[in-house]
Parts: sequence; structure tokens; C-alpha cells
Amino acid sequence: MSDKPVALVTGSGRGIGRAIAERLAADGFAVAVNAVTVDTANLDDGAFSVKTGIERAGGTAELFQADISEPARRRAMVDAVAERFGRIDLLVNNAGVGPAERKDLLEASEESFERLIRINLQGPYFLTQQVARRMIRWQAEGIVPQPRIAFISSISAYTSSPNRGDYCVSKAGLNMAGRLFADRLGEFGIPVITLCPGIIETRMTRGVKEKYDRLIADGLLVTRRWGRPEDVAGVVASFARGDLDYCTGETIEVGGGLGLRRL
Ligand SMILES: NC(=O)c1ccc[n+]([C@@H]2O[C@H](COP(=O)([O-])OP(=O)(O)OC[C@H]3O[C@@H](n4cnc5c(N)ncnc54)[C@H](O)[C@@H]3O)[C@@H](O)[C@H]2O)c1
Repeated sequence: MSDKPVALVTGSGRGIGRAIAERLAADGFAVAVNAVTVDTANLDDGAFSVKTGIERAGGTAELFQADISEPARRRAMVDAVAERFGRIDLLVNNAGVGPAERKDLLEASEESFERLIRINLQGPYFLTQQVARRMIRWQAEGIVPQPRIAFISSISAYTSSPNRGDYCVSKAGLNMAGRLFADRLGEFGIPVITLCPGIIETRMTRGVKEKYDRLIADGLLVTRRWGRPEDVAGVVASFARGDLDYCTGETIEVGGGLGLRRL
């Protein structure tokens, strides 16, 4: 069993998930790095490079390949993490996707809607159910002293973008999932928080970079720069330390002031 606390971070081969994995490893967590694909030949990018980078820095990381939208793969992943580390202290539901193509609300397809609901909502919802059951047991057995769960949602949970309604609806559902699990897990003292990143520079936003460059230059944000994956990772690190436990059930925007109503 791992002597260190263990964090399972979904979709941590790149982007925000990668920054979270690296930060948690630096802060003393053994990290279960989850990715849909693992390319061991790629030493510069992807889950394998996250694992090797963490190990080079003296930390502990293991790869767990799984598509979190597939129930059997999800179950197998949690079994494998339990087998390898014997505990999960922190679950970070980070994995998520945008629509393959942004399409107007009056045109967008049902297939895209179903895909986003499965990956962005159903996957983390049932993964959390599964991990929470184990956390309750591990806690009762004295293996995990303080379990915690975080959801990486989005400002899209409450910000209308009619050219990706499917994404907005999936993230709105995820915010409710955060509240529900906070409520249900309260009796076990398991804090649950939801982070809502704003405009973060990752591969997900690469296709709309020019648009957001312009909006940010024009003053869209109070903080006049793109968000960085590390901005999100810093909040997860505070939660992981226990600094935000009394915020259970809350959503925290990591948006550089995007949500501030201004005149
Ligand atoms: N970039 C932003 O501006 C932004 C803003 C708000 C919220 N978010 C959210 O942050 C999270 C991370 O996004 P990112 O910007 O780092 O994007 P990204 O595309 O760089 O990374 C997403 C990661 O999730 C993984 N993933 C996708 N589907 C998966 C699945 N079914 N199973 C397991 N892993 C899967 C991908 O392989 C990838 O590694 C997402 O949930 C996203 O919705 C991003």
C-alpha cells in the first residue's frame, strides 16, 4: 500500500489535468495518471511523459489507461488503482471534451450531445459513485484519513454559448453532480468542490485562440491574460491540503474575473 496519499486525476496526460497531476506530485501525492491513450514512445507529450516527468522530479506516478465514459473501463481502472496503491485520497474528475465541431443550437446533432453527456457528465458521475464507495470503506478502515473529491467543470455551466450548447448542458449537469455528492457524502466528512475554469490556454482552446486573444485584449477579463493550467492546479492543491474543506458543495470560478458583472 502507498505510504503517500494517492490522487486519481482523470485525463491527466496533458492540459489542465497534467498541471494538476504535476502539482499534486510535487506536493507529496502519489498520482494515478489516467489517459485514453498511452504512447510510450512519446517522451515530450502525453501521459507517459507526465509519469516520467514526475518520477524524474522524485515523485510517484502510475499510468491507468481508460476511457472514463465506458463503464467497464472505469471499473477496471479503479480496481487497478486500488490494486497498485491500496488507497485513493483524492479524486479529481478532470477529463472532458468539447464538441468535435462547434455548431449552432438550431443545427447541432444529437450524437454530439450524447457524446458530451457520456464523457463530461455520466463518466465522472459514476466514477465518483464508485470511488466514493471505496473511500468510505478505506476511511472506516483507517487507510484514508481524509478523502476528498473535486470536479473540474467550466464557466460554461452557467454561461450561454449557443454554438456549443451540448458542452454547456454537460457542465451544468456536472455542477449539480458536485452539489449532490457534497450533500450525500457530508455524513462521512468527505468534502466535494467544483472548479469552474474560464478561458485556459490548452489544446481544447487552440482552435479558438484568435477569438479569445481578441476578447481578452479588449478587456473581457479583469485579469488581462489567458488562464494557465497552473492557475487551476493551484486551487486543486489548496483543496488537496484541506484549506477549502469548509467550502464543500461550492463552485469556485477560476476565471480571471470573467464572472464579475461589470458596468
Ligand atoms: N481549456 C479551457 O479553457 C477549459 C475551461 C473550462 C473547463 N475546462 C475543462 O477542463 C478539463 C480539462 O480540459 P483541458 O483544457 O486540459 O483540455 P485538453 O483537451 O487539453 O485535455 C483533456 C484531457 O482529457 C482527456 N479525455 C478526454 N476524454 C476522455 C475520456 N473519455 N476518458 C479519459 N480521458 C479523457 C483527454 O485525452 C485529455 O488528456 C475538461 O473537463 C474541460 O472541459 C477547460
